[in-house]
Amino acid sequence: MTRSILFVCLGNICRSPTAEGVTRKLAAAAGLDLVIDSAGTGNWHAGEPPCPGMVRAAAVSGYDISGLRARQLTRADFSRFDLIVAMDGQNLADIARARPPGATAEARLFTDYAPETGATEVPDAYYTQDYSGALDLIEICAERLVAALAAR
Ligand code: 4NP
Repeated sequence: MTRSILFVCLGNICRSPTAEGVTRKLAAAAGLDLVIDSAGTGNWHAGEPPCPGMVRAAAVSGYDISGLRARQLTRADFSRFDLIVAMDGQNLADIARARPPGATAEARLFTDYAPETGATEVPDAYYTQDYSGALDLIEICAERLVAALAAR
């Protein structure tokens, strides 16, 4: 049974904090009691809030992610969380490399939960600047993930 989810991207200041905030709100609305967090495979932005463009786009859609702070993925995360959800294939490969022997967390791509979108990654809006486009995809993936967990 999945009770804890860690969203992971590269910097933890754009895609994964958004996935954290959106999924936390949708899970609460669905009555699911989940522990939800996010982290980056890199540490360049540790301690920083999400990037302003994404904070604004999220706020427009009713999600407050301004209080989140970036941190780097740790070895302990692989046993603290049931499920680690990556934003792109590079994140997933980096997660596999960081995984300690015997760690139990399942690792998946976020877009795998919403195959109907045809997306194979959440594009990095930190670079594309298409914050609302990334948010739309994150919302769809989060809805599907929450629905999958609620059905169990
Ligand atoms: P994120 O975007 O992985 O969605 O948080 C990034 C933000 C910053 C950097 C890379 C990705 N960076 O290298 O500074």
